[in-house]
Amino acid sequence: MRILITAGPTREYLDDVRYLSNASSGRMGYALAEAALAAGHEVVLISGPVALHPPAGALVRLVETTDQLLAACDAAWPDCDGVIATAAVCDYRPRERFPGKLAKTGVSLELELVETADVLAELGRKKGHRWIVGFALESEEFAHINAIRKLKEKNCNAIVLNRPTAIGSADNSVEVIERSGETVARFSGPKTVVAAELLQWISQAFASHEA
Ligand code: CTP
Repeated sequence: MRILITAGPTREYLDDVRYLSNASSGRMGYALAEAALAAGHEVVLISGPVALHPPAGALVRLVETTDQLLAACDAAWPDCDGVIATAAVCDYRPRERFPGKLAKTGVSLELELVETADVLAELGRKKGHRWIVGFALESEEFAHINAIRKLKEKNCNAIVLNRPTAIGSADNSVEVIERSGETVARFSGPKTVVAAELLQWISQAFASHEA
């Protein structure tokens, strides 16, 4: 299969030197890319800014903003069989990006934030024969309900539920939830191990989607 993987954070600039972002390390996405290549798949890795070296053999597109992530995913999607969306996308951006560097004025500054594009939902709208595996980062007690809602809204085949402790960590503990709402697999341990097991699950689940 040819697998699209999104990884890392996105950045949304307030001016030319300051941005909103999050602590995503990109480790889960990069480990999945490595595991997919090792399993003989082709990988298109679209990554926000991270301190990792992309695995040899992946077709890599580096992006910063959510709009750039969307454009790169849109371009890659027609030639892919499926997507694993691990990117920690910045959901809001400052309404305005000021040129240069905003100077202090001595009074408080109010920032107006507007929603960014939902990249995975966009891919879901152009899904065709392809499969989609999303990630849901949930902190609350309604984690399962929220994850299942995201799965449906983004037209995913399955969603991987993980917790905020995963962000920036070397380890992860995940559940794979299918469209029925049922948890069909659980993996935990170092992200490299979780990635290999998850990739194996994905390979088996979507083998018949191959063109
Ligand atoms: N995602 C995306 N584009 C966004 C937000 C999220 O592509 N603007 C993708 C993520 O890569 C992930 C899935 O959607 O695969 C769910 O991301 P998550 O952050 O858990 O949820 P959100 O949709 O951002 O919802 P909320 O922040 O309200 O929990």
